[in-house]
Amino acid sequence: MLKNSAHIENLLNEFNHVLENYNLKLETNPASSDISNEISKAYMYPLQAGGKRIRPLLVLLTAGAFGGKDGLKTAFKAALAVEKIHTYSLVHDDLPCMDNDDLRRGKPTTHKIYGDAKALLVGDALLTQAFAVLAETQYSNVQNQHYTAYLIQALAKGAGAEGMVWGQWLDISLTGNKKVVWEQMELVHRNKTGKMLGACLELGFICGLSAQKLEINPAQFLELRSLIHEAGISIGLAFQIIDDILDMTKSSAELGKTAGKDETQEKMTAPHLLGMEEAVSLAASQTESALSMLDKVFESFSNEFLEYKSLLIEQIKMLLQRSH
Ligand code: IPE
Ligand code: IPE
Ligand code: MG
Ligand code: MG
Ligand code: MG
Repeated sequence: MLKNSAHIENLLNEFNHVLENYNLKLETNPASSDISNEISKAYMYPLQAGGKRIRPLLVLLTAGAFGGKDGLKTAFKAALAVEKIHTYSLVHDDLPCMDNDDLRRGKPTTHKIYGDAKALLVGDALLTQAFAVLAETQYSNVQNQHYTAYLIQALAKGAGAEGMVWGQWLDISLTGNKKVVWEQMELVHRNKTGKMLGACLELGFICGLSAQKLEINPAQFLELRSLIHEAGISIGLAFQIIDDILDMTKSSAELGKTAGKDETQEKMTAPHLLGMEEAVSLAASQTESALSMLDKVFESFSNEFLEYKSLLIEQIKMLLQRSH
């Protein structure tokens, strides 16, 4: 990963501090304190294991690009929510009934420490808690309280049966099938990874707009929201292609997760189906097309918040260069 600017580093430090220091508010009693201590630790375990925090960063920078500092501040809860959902998806993805992985973010997977049933519950807890956090979003412009409904809808769609869950379903259905064609894998990648990144950009866009004074008509709002969502999906498709390439070319120590898993599990990937060169160029062209969609959305607004716009573009480009 290339080095982030100092501004992004500060933002990430603040984000990590809040994410990694949450205390579950459990009803318990002295006789049950060992068990409540265990769930509290288990809940934090996958969150504190590190991670690149790409998704929250995209939420925050998109919010900054459309609403400046106020937009970014509004988006903080949404950023926490997406990282909780993403972390839940990793905990479940690693379970023996899915990818059966022992290593995640450089540490033993949650089920290796707490067992399968409790890891399942940790995932469930992160998933549901994400929506509680998202619903705490505060707006600088109080008239926009109703935007919370848009946020909840965007995240639920990206994560749920019409998004990531569908992608994961396709993924496990096609695992081991040697007749899979790229068209099918593209659908897997767009859904399992792309739809969450689509949701990240949408959440950032909604939070950013909520901080602006301008009136935007509902039809234009829908049109721009769907364009930014599509830009996020393309970024996600590129992101998953690179994930598949890294799985093939890096070591477990570099990745913090088991390398070479896709081949062991007979998962068909872009480098496998298209060849390395074409896979790399597809990731680049998807990123280009995402940036041009994003540019179209930028053009519909005033020429403000240029610093955040360029940080966002820089961050999207950096995803192609990452080494883990
Ligand atoms: C891994 O995501 C799962 C994919 C969708 C490819 P990341 O590569 O963002 O994992 P962390 O959050 O940095 O651990
Ligand atoms: C997982 O894709 C995508 C999710 C929705 C969690 P992978 O199975 O390729 O992710 P890694 O390689 O285990 O991180
Ligand atoms: Mg998987
Ligand atoms: Mg996996
Ligand atoms: Mg992978």
